[in-house]
Amino acid sequence: MITCIAEVSSLRSALRKLPRPLALVPTMGALHEGHLQLMRTAREKVGPEGTVAASIFVNPIQFDRAEDLESYPQPLAEDLELCEKEGVNLAFTPEVGDLYAPDRSVLVTESLLARNLCGATRPGHFDGVLTVVLKLFNIFQPDVAVFGKKDFQQLALIRRMVRDLDVPVEIHGHPTVRETDGLAMSSRNRKLTSDHRADAPRIRRALIAARDLAATGEQSPTVYLDAARHHLCKEAPSGFHIDYLELVDHMTLQPLSKVTSPATLATACFYGEIRLIDHVTIRP
Ligand code: PAJ
Repeated sequence: MITCIAEVSSLRSALRKLPRPLALVPTMGALHEGHLQLMRTAREKVGPEGTVAASIFVNPIQFDRAEDLESYPQPLAEDLELCEKEGVNLAFTPEVGDLYAPDRSVLVTESLLARNLCGATRPGHFDGVLTVVLKLFNIFQPDVAVFGKKDFQQLALIRRMVRDLDVPVEIHGHPTVRETDGLAMSSRNRKLTSDHRADAPRIRRALIAARDLAATGEQSPTVYLDAARHHLCKEAPSGFHIDYLELVDHMTLQPLSKVTSPATLATACFYGEIRLIDHVTIRP
């Protein structure tokens, strides 16, 4: 039976009674197969006797656009049913006031890996992510926490925070889970119009078309970027535009002058108000 708790103090006493090890899967809800796979990985990590906990919290301080926050899907009853089905032992579903004091004044800021990509186009976003993730780590004190590689910059930042702040947790990254047509699963996919949903696999196709150039020994970032941009924009439907398209070093997430080591080609694209992200790794 799943236990569902919203208050931090009740959560703390419930946690004392739950068996270790404990794996945490932080989410913002509107759960899809990608989230469910993280929960299955969490179960594998702790074994049948351990505890799998999931948090469902639409974290207001990581949203840079009010309309994105207001329209974020919140099918809580459905989410809890899915958690229960996946054998999640504890669901944490706080309200904003349960996690944030009205006069809160501390934020976690990462200053290097967050410079580009989503960090550049969504001001304050990663401060909000790191702050809530550190709070969840402090509240749950999990042995392991599972995150998706789909949000690879987020994952890199969380790993960096854990390293630099000595947070005693193992971070596990799970591969991107996709729809059969290649579109990376996202809670935001359900908000796409049917025309935009049908077109959205273009993002993955464009990244793969660019990545295929690696077989020719291509080393110029511009060539990869131009190829991806061409496929992204070719006969794109109205409402589509690129938020960013960048090629960065796989480890440092900084721009490259030459592709001689693994690189990440990443994009964020808008369909109307809906912003989708994806990336591929280029191995020269
Ligand atoms: P959310 O977008 O709900 O994602 C929760 C977790 O699921 C993240 O680790 C994310 O990378 C992972 N995930 C989402 N889609 C995925 C997919 N298609 N394949 C694999 N994993 C996927 O990411 C957040 O929430 C928030 O920023 C959070 C970390 C919870 C902090 O508020």
